[in-house]
Amino acid sequence: MPDLRDSWWIDTVEVPTRVVLAPMAGVSVQAFRRQGRRYGAGLVCSEMVSCAGIEHGNERTLGYLRVAADEHPLAIQLFGSDPRAMANAARMVEAVGADIVDLNFGCPVKKVTRTGAGAHLLEEPDLACRLVESVANAVEIPVTVKLRRGVRNGSRACLELGPRLVEAGAAALTLHPRSAEQMYTGVADHSLTAELVELVDVPVVASGDVTSRARAQSVLATTGAAAVMVGRGAQGNPWALREILEGDVSEPSREEVVAELVLFVREVVRELGERRATGFLKKFYGWYLGRGRFPKPFKQEILLLGSTEEVVQRLLAAAPGAIELVERLEAELPSGDEVTLELPVSIYGGG
Ligand SMILES: Cc1cc2nc3c(=O)[nH]c(=O)nc-3n(C[C@H](O)[C@H](O)[C@H](O)COP(=O)(O)O)c2cc1C
Repeated sequence: MPDLRDSWWIDTVEVPTRVVLAPMAGVSVQAFRRQGRRYGAGLVCSEMVSCAGIEHGNERTLGYLRVAADEHPLAIQLFGSDPRAMANAARMVEAVGADIVDLNFGCPVKKVTRTGAGAHLLEEPDLACRLVESVANAVEIPVTVKLRRGVRNGSRACLELGPRLVEAGAAALTLHPRSAEQMYTGVADHSLTAELVELVDVPVVASGDVTSRARAQSVLATTGAAAVMVGRGAQGNPWALREILEGDVSEPSREEVVAELVLFVREVVRELGERRATGFLKKFYGWYLGRGRFPKPFKQEILLLGSTEEVVQRLLAAAPGAIELVERLEAELPSGDEVTLELPVSIYGGG
């Protein structure tokens, strides 16, 4: 069985470790991805980005296409159902400097599936293949697909569709072996991942319920997957990545938790602006400060504060030792100027 710290390849892209940080809508902002890379994720992924939004030049959508210098290798994920729009969006993804374009064939949310995108494509294999073909013809970078097992409970659609997607040009597949109907209930059935691995000659990434080193190793060993993907386990918890990769089971100190959270808050504000960041960050406060790390009333106090600067000050007051850690972390990061917005300003529409 490969070591989790071994590198592997998706076509021409070398991925330095076998742990991939999952794309998560409302979570996988640049700050999350950069943190994931720092803690050892070999590949990070943007949340799903709408092809229609890109086509219409929606400013918020285009904002998702920002790539920082220290994120690589990075996959940007697209969702859509029109092969031409998908190809155009993929060209944009390539132009902004992503290493991989990933297509979402797994999102179970109605708002997405009723447009013919996401998990709906699991039941439209011909269209799904046309989408992959169209994108693969449009860009030089590898095209990958992330899918669920099928739409209905018990479905094995992924096993028929997977090999066809590879034939159409997919350079790797990620399988989250739950049905769309299941959403996030039940467990991910990685026996399907093992079956898929047997059927295709490209790397398969196993996604679902990987939260510990023991689980990551057992999923790799029993499925033959090239890598594991970690999603919810890494929310407010980059230390999970360290545990999975290094076997370091020590809990982070309060100072470490506060330092990572403060850095995260500052980066998100820089990325989204104070107004959007304020709402966006609330779930992260729960994730970071929960897990028995801080008492509940402290978490509630943080949630009631008005500005992110007040949050930062309150956090640092609770763990003054974090001040030095934050300074050290900030000094190690590429400076604001180095982390360029590789998106041409004329496309992004300013900001
Ligand atoms: C809040 C949230 C948002 C998600 N958004 C996406 C997404 O944008 N694209 C995608 O392919 N999967 C998305 N997923 C699915 C995850 O990538 C992953 O496959 C799933 O959570 C199972 O892995 P886990 O058990 O490690 O969380 C999302 C999951 C969560 C919890």
